Amino acid sequence: MRISESKIEEIRNAANIVDVVSEYVQLRKRGRNYIGLCPFHSEKTPSFTVSDEKQIYHCFGCHNGGNVFKFLMEYKKISFIEAVQELAEQFGIELNYDDSVPEGQSEQEILFDINTEVARYFSNNLLNDGEGQIARDYFQKRNIKVQTMRAFGLGYALNGWENLVSFLKQKNIDLEKALQLGLIGRNKDGRVYDKLAGRIIFPIFSPNGRVVAFAGRKLREDDTGGKYINSPESIIYVKGRILYGLSFAKDEIRKLDKAIIVEGYMDLISLYQAGIKNVVAVSGTALTDDQAQLLSRYTKNVVLLFDADTAGISASMRSIEILLRKDFDVKIATLPSGEDPDSFVNKYGKDEFEEVIKRSENFLEYQTAYYEKQGMFNDPTKAAEAIRELVRVISLVQDDLKRAFLVKISRKFNIRENLLERELDQVLSKNKVVPKFQENLIDTKHNISTKLFDEKIRKFSTPQNFNFEIEIIRFLFGNDEGTSKYILENVDEEDLEYEIHSYIIKKAKETYNTNLSFAPGELLLEFDDEVRNYILSWEKKFITEKNYDTDDNIQRYVQESIRRLRERNLELKIKLLTEAIQNTTDEEYKKKLLIENKDLINKKKELLKFSGIS
Ligand code: CTP
Ligand code: MN
Repeated sequence: MRISESKIEEIRNAANIVDVVSEYVQLRKRGRNYIGLCPFHSEKTPSFTVSDEKQIYHCFGCHNGGNVFKFLMEYKKISFIEAVQELAEQFGIELNYDDSVPEGQSEQEILFDINTEVARYFSNNLLNDGEGQIARDYFQKRNIKVQTMRAFGLGYALNGWENLVSFLKQKNIDLEKALQLGLIGRNKDGRVYDKLAGRIIFPIFSPNGRVVAFAGRKLREDDTGGKYINSPESIIYVKGRILYGLSFAKDEIRKLDKAIIVEGYMDLISLYQAGIKNVVAVSGTALTDDQAQLLSRYTKNVVLLFDADTAGISASMRSIEILLRKDFDVKIATLPSGEDPDSFVNKYGKDEFEEVIKRSENFLEYQTAYYEKQGMFNDPTKAAEAIRELVRVISLVQDDLKRAFLVKISRKFNIRENLLERELDQVLSKNKVVPKFQENLIDTKHNISTKLFDEKIRKFSTPQNFNFEIEIIRFLFGNDEGTSKYILENVDEEDLEYEIHSYIIKKAKETYNTNLSFAPGELLLEFDDEVRNYILSWEKKFITEKNYDTDDNIQRYVQESIRRLRERNLELKIKLLTEAIQNTTDEEYKKKLLIENKDLINKKKELLKFSGIS
């Protein structure tokens, strides 16, 4: 598919960027530009700017920017061609592809076209053919409306050996390609035959709505062969990269910022028909990494709704892990035993189904309840095993904040919190999943080496540093105003290496600087629930278990903690720079590094002098 440059230009001229963006972002006029809240990162004050004059957008917060096509590509996660097509349609510009040149068609395009033709053929069998009555009856029995059959392109493959084969021949479709797509098979004596004969057909679509494969379900339970026959993988179909129904569900998923994941085709279709449209189906296996990645373009919030049988439970457990590794928020919903989403929504309706989703549990609750039901908490050895498993899963949760929250909810169960935490600490220090370094930790003067440090420093961080930082945060929100002020005036956000901690310090300092008289407790109100909960979760915990009897001692402790953090940061940088100096052969670069290193060494000396240690 080729679209000429002049066509693209024509579309760009017709599609005013301010109008296009306005459909998705609320814009206000400011001076010559328009501003709004950036749709590409979360922010409370607008840094997203659209220029009518230049026909471009730019976000000063996350640096996303470009022309009208780029905006749509980014916003809708679509390709350039799709963005062009969408705008052409919207602004009534006709795209006349040059389809007289089939040699320009790629192998993929040819296969897509074959699948599209075949999908139409199957659909026509279902809707219009006399033999299709048997399939229409089947769907009717299952409560699927004609409108739904059309929407999902459902079909029927006539029974017999060569119905599809004849159709393909009649359409001059290359049989080798149809073989490659698994639409037909070839037996020992070289004859080709229909593969999905006598089955009802579910076309499987790519996220953009192209037919990449088919699934054929048998009509009667006692028919021979598997319940479903699925197309084999091909250059247009990699099973683990497709989520069934995503092309239908993506808008709703984005809108609700939540996806429900079910197992089966029929589950998804019945839910959709009932008006629940933010659903994708994994097709009877656990979610794969690629599927999670694909879904993450649209949302990071997932409710798993798998069957309550053994296979479903184990698929849930595995999917939970995969989703957590990708930083999803994962909930699990469960249906009464014996039901799947399809049967449930047909029996009880949409509202009841939505109740089920509302009652979904945090993955930790789900797993704990499962172990409990297995009786694992009655036996000390098994309980330890279960806890270890839970901890392993919690440790996958990427950010410290969420992890702290999870540890907290574990209190709701019989798990003793400190047991869980001790396990967690062990796992974490083993994994060294420790801090996230901020780019700006190393000041701009030293930006040559930022990249160099970024990866390496992570490896050196230890849980002890974490503890120092927690102490500082805890004292900041303690009940002593003098100590809080001391921290606000003496700790820089750059001193703290954990993103969440440096965020807290930064925000607290901003508040303090605009309003110099305050009670430490009030500072807490400046944070949203999540951060506040995080802060409060450390409230009662004395990590170092020391007794600080006077304010003076506290301040000395804080001072010492800061000094140690700074010193450790400097030492690490010096060590890494020294290594880099030894390893580089580029004299110019080496010179720069040497200057930097000298600078750092001086800083360290100063630091030690300041603390009276030198
Ligand atoms: N599946 C498959 N091959 C099979 C069985 C199942 O590919 N032999 C996949 C299908 O994607 C199916 C999903 O696993 O949709 C769930 O299987 P199952 O629960 O057995 O089927 P349902 O989707 O519930 O189908 P139905 O309601 O028609 O029985
Ligand atoms: Mn079912």
